[in-house]
Amino acid sequence: MKGRGGRRHPRTSPSSAELWRRYSRRFPHYFWGEETRLASVLLAGAHDSRVVDVDGKEYIDLTSQWGTNNVGNVHPKVLRATQEALARYGFLIYFIAPHLPMLDLADKLLEVRPSPNLTRVFLELSGTGAAEGAVKYAVEVAERPVVLSFMGQYHGLSIGMGMVGALSSHERRHWEAYGGGAVHAPYPVPIRRPKGMTPDEYGGWVLDYIRDELLAHVVSPERVAGTIFEPVALEAGVWIPPKSFVRGLRSLCDEHGWAYIDDEVEAGVGRTGKMWAIEHFSVAPDLVAIGKGLSGGLLPISAVLGTEKMMAEKEVAAGTTFGGHPAACVAASATIDLLREERIIPRSAALGRRALARAKEWERFDSVAEVRGLGLCLGVELHDRRGNPDPAAARRVFFDCVRRGVIPLWNYGDCVLRVQPPLTIPADELDRALDVLELALRRAGRPSAS
Ligand SMILES: Cc1ncc(COP(=O)(O)O)c(C=O)c1O
Repeated sequence: MKGRGGRRHPRTSPSSAELWRRYSRRFPHYFWGEETRLASVLLAGAHDSRVVDVDGKEYIDLTSQWGTNNVGNVHPKVLRATQEALARYGFLIYFIAPHLPMLDLADKLLEVRPSPNLTRVFLELSGTGAAEGAVKYAVEVAERPVVLSFMGQYHGLSIGMGMVGALSSHERRHWEAYGGGAVHAPYPVPIRRPKGMTPDEYGGWVLDYIRDELLAHVVSPERVAGTIFEPVALEAGVWIPPKSFVRGLRSLCDEHGWAYIDDEVEAGVGRTGKMWAIEHFSVAPDLVAIGKGLSGGLLPISAVLGTEKMMAEKEVAAGTTFGGHPAACVAASATIDLLREERIIPRSAALGRRALARAKEWERFDSVAEVRGLGLCLGVELHDRRGNPDPAAARRVFFDCVRRGVIPLWNYGDCVLRVQPPLTIPADELDRALDVLELALRRAGRPSAS
């Protein structure tokens, strides 16, 4: 990539502008609203850690397509295995008879499980389905209706997971009164801790709040089936909780007979420098929701790992028609093989450490409140001169990067920009993308940058 914008490919006509004109009224506003239109990028292809628009311009993809393409887009080994599986199996539904690819995937998932207490595998289609499935197992096994969740967490946009998650009040609007059986505690994100507290003290404060406030005034512990926790809350802006808190949460579960549900949909499959983010905390969960990067981004599939108690004793009504699609199972098995054979995760962890060390320097810019990260995943939080979160600056940085051929991960309206490229991104390509982001951050601090 040279200068402004990336490498050029032959244009696939009609032009981006023409397609925007023609199609911008054919899809719901959410996807074609002002923000997307301003970027005016219409994709015509993708490979490795790059995407290509219809005008032939290439972009470095710092999103890995929202965390799905952890082994790069269209990895040839995963593609070959998936194509062969599609030709051999087409689609077979596992409700009628199990098929060979799901058996193989179950073995592979259990080989890489985060803790030996997890012995069973349930296959689903989406991350939402996995998170929801895990909650279903917890609730139906315990015969208790309530789940403890945390503010800022994201588990999907279905009605059920919309109630359990609490990313933003904006996303929950119209459904606030819908019930849903979840109670929420603050997520102990260190940057939001009250003045004078250490991150560990803040984690302890949240545990006390759960015990002394929620369980005393809102719901009694024997009505709670379990807790769902993101070991690193990526959608919220790469929130990394204190270890002592995660262990304390596990103890709370043990004390009250709650299931500990580990939502690894986005943090799992190598993103944080280990196969599973929970491994950073040495905690054994009872249920683990997995999705996104599981199949190398080629076909949708998700999974829940569970203990004997969670998955062997009762019949739980969970599942969906295309869950455990045979070719998606093969794609997932091929992805796990690839991650292990090519030692992709340790390499990405080293790359991430180097990127974090460099990006930490950005904290000296006026606009940058904090840079945090784990594995190949950085969050850059922006604030204004008074120290308030600054989504407008994040927006400027985002579009500045896009114009220069780099796509960071950004939730519209958020003050955090994320760097979450494929784990396989070449080091020099990541460096070039960080150069672009750094320049945009420098400019964001200046009033003229808008
Ligand atoms: C932690 C977490 N859980 C669940 C989901 C929902 O996954 P999906 O969008 O694949 O349904 C997401 C998606 O971003 C997520 O980050």
